[in-house]
Amino acid sequence: MSYQKIGLICAMEEEIRLLERDMQAEQTSVIAGRTFYEGVLYGRPVTLVQSRIGKVAAASTATTLLDRFGVDCVIFCGTAGGIAPDLHTGDVVVADKLVQHDFFDGVGWFRIPLLDKSYFETEPVLTEGIRRAVIEYVRDRLKQEIPQAHLDEFRISDPKVVTGTVVTGDQFICDPEKNRWIAEQVDNAKCVEMEGAAVAQICYEFGIPCAVVRVVSDGANDNSNLDFERFVSEAACHFTRGALKAFLENAE
Ligand code: ADE
Repeated sequence: MSYQKIGLICAMEEEIRLLERDMQAEQTSVIAGRTFYEGVLYGRPVTLVQSRIGKVAAASTATTLLDRFGVDCVIFCGTAGGIAPDLHTGDVVVADKLVQHDFFDGVGWFRIPLLDKSYFETEPVLTEGIRRAVIEYVRDRLKQEIPQAHLDEFRISDPKVVTGTVVTGDQFICDPEKNRWIAEQVDNAKCVEMEGAAVAQICYEFGIPCAVVRVVSDGANDNSNLDFERFVSEAACHFTRGALKAFLENAE
């Protein structure tokens, strides 16, 4: 793998803040209300941007990133609600494919008309590189970076890293019924979030490889909203920075 310029997207401000701080930004451009930071991060040329929340925000940001900044791959990092029963707060899902759970064309669920496709695959080599980087971060650095009090508060002990389907829709899922429906309908559903499949679809249409990484913040059930903001600013941003640092420093 040898990418010339990597596009990095996070939905939330707290998530890009640490990256912004570590980056040597050479140029910033504001397009459609988003700030695109071009520069060097952990030794690699990147363009970093905050998409904001939801599929439209993510798709339009990815389109600008690909069309105007010439990135040759895209990595999206953020949080998600766990769908697979064995996932807990702090576990990490690396997507091998993504699907939109709220897409219904009048006949059936998920299939995107004209593209004739329901699941959008991530690029396997890029995904494996990210998976290794997350494992390295969780094993070697997580506990030095996130204070024990925060790990205890969020009940993060020994996070595992899994690969599977990341499920996207314009809803924060906090309903056990909907959670169950997604688990039943989607092949190998691991977690639910609000941007990934939109970015994966745009990357597919541009013919550009992508990867999506999500740290589990909640169980996508009744208790979902509990301390979400704190989780992002005290824990998720460290996972994102740690995984990207390990990935970018090791990438050829
Ligand atoms: N991001 C984090 N948790 C989520 C949830 N439960 N539903 C959708 N997006 C999320």
